[in-house]
Amino acid sequence: MTRTSAQELSNTELVGTIEQIATIISESHYVVGMTGAGMSVESGIPPFRGADGLWTKYGVPRMDGYSEFKKDPIGWWNRRTNEKIDAHIVELRDALTSAKPHAGHYALVGLEKQGYLQSLVTQNIDALDEKAGLENLVEIHGNRTKLRCIDCGDRVSLGDFVPLYAPDSCIKCDGIVKFDTVMFGEPIPSDVMVAARTEIDKADCVLAIGTSATVRPASGLLWIAEAAGATIIEINPIETKLSPICEVSLRSTAGEALPLLLQSLSD
Ligand code: APR
Repeated sequence: MTRTSAQELSNTELVGTIEQIATIISESHYVVGMTGAGMSVESGIPPFRGADGLWTKYGVPRMDGYSEFKKDPIGWWNRRTNEKIDAHIVELRDALTSAKPHAGHYALVGLEKQGYLQSLVTQNIDALDEKAGLENLVEIHGNRTKLRCIDCGDRVSLGDFVPLYAPDSCIKCDGIVKFDTVMFGEPIPSDVMVAARTEIDKADCVLAIGTSATVRPASGLLWIAEAAGATIIEINPIETKLSPICEVSLRSTAGEALPLLLQSLSD
């Protein structure tokens, strides 16, 4: 198990560890990425936990968002427009609106195109993987640029449009429509949960990038993969609860490590 800490990481160690990860990936048959908020930090979107985390700054939000929504969906939509919204939502929303994919997102697309990455399960709702051109993508916590019917699960892409008032009911089943983003207290939609588990069950290597590995059921997939014999690789500037089960933990950032990994595998 190789571990390098950001403080000690010299360029030689960075390159050496990248090559170690590249060797593991090139010898694997089915590599699945699992990304978290850290993947998008270099796109200007703050993470939730840790020194620069939104929850660290503003406190952990209420966990009953979904039950509140279901009590009064129209009122929820109207409050979204009219009432003062939490500071952390304003900070996150502004960052999400202006965010663009960074070199790390494009490196994952390169790994996919060259057959070194079979799929990506992301916990992020920012749609940056989709914008970068990633194809085999499972957005386990939803996608902020889509609406989803909570009755039939039908999803509709919003593009750049941001609804200010309650959208019409579902065109397929006349059900209640919300943002595709999974709210606190909302079960993960079964279609993406099944898709994510299917990918993890196929994986002999999982590349965990920018996740604190603390929020189930998404994070639980990492331990499921490890228990099934998959090699777990972590790219994260700091140690996480996942680190002890990682074959390699690279103390680097997504924007630094992933282009180097693509280059190493492309040489
Ligand atoms: N590159 C890689 N990793 C980074 C970077 C970076 N540039 N910057 C920070 N990180 C790491 C942090 O060290 C941390 O371990 O990214 C991780 C982010 O952790 P969290 O903020 O907990 O995000 P995540 O793991 O995605 O949280 C899971 O929790 O709040 C919910 O729904 C939300 O999807 C989110 C879920």
